[in-house]
Amino acid sequence: MTSPTTTITPDTTGQLVFPRDFLWGAATAAYQIEGAVAEDGRTPSIWDTFSRVPGAVLGGDTGDVACEHYRRYPEDVALMSSLNLNAYRFSTAWPRVRPDGGAPNQAGLDFYARLTDELLGRGITPWVTLYHWDLPETLERAGGWTNRDTAYRFADYALSLYDALGDRVPYWTTMNEPWCSAFLGYTGGQHAPGRQEGVAGVVAAHHLMLGHGLVVDELRRRGSQAQLGITLNLTVADPYDPTEPADVDAARRVDGFFNRVFLEPIFHGRYADDLAGDTAGLTFNGRPWQDVVRDGDLELISTPIDVLGVNYYHGDAASGRPIGDPAEVLGSRIEHPSRPVTSPYPGGTDIGFPRRGLPVTGMDWEVQPEGLTRLLVRLRDEYDVPPVYITENGAAYDDEVGPDGTVDDPGRLEFIDAHLRATHAAIEQGVDVRGYFAWSLLDNYEWAYGYGQRFGIVHVDYDTQVRTPKASARFYAEAARTGRLPG
Ligand code: NOJ
Repeated sequence: MTSPTTTITPDTTGQLVFPRDFLWGAATAAYQIEGAVAEDGRTPSIWDTFSRVPGAVLGGDTGDVACEHYRRYPEDVALMSSLNLNAYRFSTAWPRVRPDGGAPNQAGLDFYARLTDELLGRGITPWVTLYHWDLPETLERAGGWTNRDTAYRFADYALSLYDALGDRVPYWTTMNEPWCSAFLGYTGGQHAPGRQEGVAGVVAAHHLMLGHGLVVDELRRRGSQAQLGITLNLTVADPYDPTEPADVDAARRVDGFFNRVFLEPIFHGRYADDLAGDTAGLTFNGRPWQDVVRDGDLELISTPIDVLGVNYYHGDAASGRPIGDPAEVLGSRIEHPSRPVTSPYPGGTDIGFPRRGLPVTGMDWEVQPEGLTRLLVRLRDEYDVPPVYITENGAAYDDEVGPDGTVDDPGRLEFIDAHLRATHAAIEQGVDVRGYFAWSLLDNYEWAYGYGQRFGIVHVDYDTQVRTPKASARFYAEAARTGRLPG
């Protein structure tokens, strides 16, 4: 186990003091904020296509305009600076940088260079996420993430960006939440490309991890000094009733298909035995799905990384019995506003997620900050993870601009406060956590939920594009300025 380099200075005033070099950031993703989907050579991604499928996205919302960040980025960077942020995590759009997954597009690269320089000019550390779900549609037509070749195309794209920005961007995340890309995209169908093909989700997960490994391996060979990693959305899966064997087994499977399907290959270079057992006999293209795992893949996938990004929103109480809302019993309440419900767990249609009586956010997600502390301690104990950054955490609530023009969002403020405290508790227990990124800087396009769910610490009026920092932004700005939370 590596000894933590993150230390906390004891404080006599009762305040919680965060490590000196802690990153206080906010995160966004290209399709969710940029708009300008047809400008400067960008071609469609799977989300441009999926958002036009009737019923796929609430209200038929698309990312065509979003927050107009493509044009307004200087204003948005100034906003970050006014909120004392010292880091900004953004994603780059594959179909802007390599339209149709083909040759590099200088205009696309130039946009991200301008954004990076704007950030650096204001003393904000840029953190690039290479894949936040916008696969070029052309590559999906060739099989998408179920096609092994997509991993190699991803590496080409990643390297062209690295060639352009590697000298200026110190942190690189290969994949954002590959669970969503794989299991919501290819098993449950709640996300683009909307395929509902059972074990295809596991196949996609393997190829996403392969793409990650190819990039980390190649950048290592080139002697890159950048901090390289992946961002996983991890959960804490508890049995709804720990005395019920069916619930205990459901929690095991949720942990398997949500957490360990990524953690085991990336940190231990293997797939877990129980996951192999749960998917035994499942075939992809008429062959055992395991045939997609080729010699050498797991070595590449487990190439050591420098940082682990953790996105945490809530834990899960899992049940293997038919209790709770029927939609929940199908195990897909996670993201499914209007699509036909199918479980994102291959073969897992009997997994349910009954409520525990915890408060919920606008997404109907339970608020469970203690789960974050438990998760971080587990990652250290079981996976000996490298330094961790909370690359996303936040909550959606129905915010309104008040008559005086301000936005009071006590629910979000308390949510962020509680999760910062949960992060601090993990640091106190010796987990090396080095930063926190609020999701999100701006209200934005919440995928299958469209613009109805507002996650921003800054309110966006979609008619006028006026940005208004919410009370939570003021609170967070003060924490970022002082590096402390009130006692
Ligand atoms: C995680 C995803 O990375 C982000 O795109 C999304 O908006 C948030 N979760 C909230 O659902």
